[in-house]
Amino acid sequence: MKLPEFVKIVEVGPRDGLQSESQVLDSDVKIDFINRLSRTGLSVIEVSSLVHPERVPQLADAEAVYTGINKIQGIAYPLLVPNVKGMERAMAINAKEIALFTSASDKFNQHNINCTVAESLQRFEPIVEQAMANNISIRAYISCAFGCPYENDVHFDKMANLAELLIAMGCNEISLGDTVGIATPLQVEQVIDTVAANVDIHKLAVHFHDTRGQALANILRAVQMGITTVDASVAGLGGCPFAPNSTGNVATEDVVYMLRGMDIETGIDLNALIDCGQFISAQLGRENLSRVASAPRVGQCT
Ligand code: HMG
Ligand code: MG
Repeated sequence: MKLPEFVKIVEVGPRDGLQSESQVLDSDVKIDFINRLSRTGLSVIEVSSLVHPERVPQLADAEAVYTGINKIQGIAYPLLVPNVKGMERAMAINAKEIALFTSASDKFNQHNINCTVAESLQRFEPIVEQAMANNISIRAYISCAFGCPYENDVHFDKMANLAELLIAMGCNEISLGDTVGIATPLQVEQVIDTVAANVDIHKLAVHFHDTRGQALANILRAVQMGITTVDASVAGLGGCPFAPNSTGNVATEDVVYMLRGMDIETGIDLNALIDCGQFISAQLGRENLSRVASAPRVGQCT
């Protein structure tokens, strides 16, 4: 089996992670957290969300955090943008990368962004136009790509068409979100097979929440199929406030450890990453959910 030599990790802890923590951290702590992450070798760190501050108060300081971090050349710092108002906010702080988000499920979209999937695409049109005119790179998430907490069936063919449409609109990358951590490896194979029939597999990313402990197995299957971009959240932070019972993303430390064990390069210093996870867990006063971070560091097992 031919495995990729390199997998790009998209660190979503400061956004997907912190959006679901009950504690609202000071902007200075978030800035410190992101600056620490910037020193680990990560090439993409999702900083925050330009959503309604009352809906996600944990990220109400997105502008202060984005403008406060040290931006290192070669690292992308995307911000989540839900609508034109979010795009205006992104432009005002000179964002270079944005992430749009819609869903495979109308019901989830209604709960999350207050519109249907078709309406979300209409909302995206002027945003994409503005982003392209300003050389801003655009990622798009498709949430509930493997199942929805509100709808029984997610139709994979429909989702593959949605992914194709988003790429045709001008998005550079599509992240397939397992928002409620429902996927299992053979289902991952089916979804990727279906979507990759419409979209270049190198433009696809996977985004697994680890609610049912399946995330690493799912990532392994995805990488074996040729996926080279994987989202993760240091210390396993996170979840989605609008998806009941969703827990954190797979821990970045655990993904990096697994890939390293298969000789797949990520460019990330695992020890530095573990230190970041310990830092943010201490700040939040919560358990670090990374299994790798909880085990003795390699070489120090005795
Ligand atoms: P809406 O209520 O439909 O917006 O919210 P509206 O256009 O009707 O405007 C209502 C009011 O909100 C107006 O203010 C707007 O100005 C204001 P008023 O005139 O009443 O004073 N407003 C805004 N304010 C600040 N920033 C904005 C903004 N937009 C409108 N961008 C909206 C629509 C999407 C904003 C809202 O529903 C919202 O904020 N939702 C939160 C969505 C969210 O953050 N979800 C979690 C992230 S997604 C996720 O976690 C999944 C993912 O990780 C992948 C996966 O796991 O699958 C990505
Ligand atoms: Mg998520």
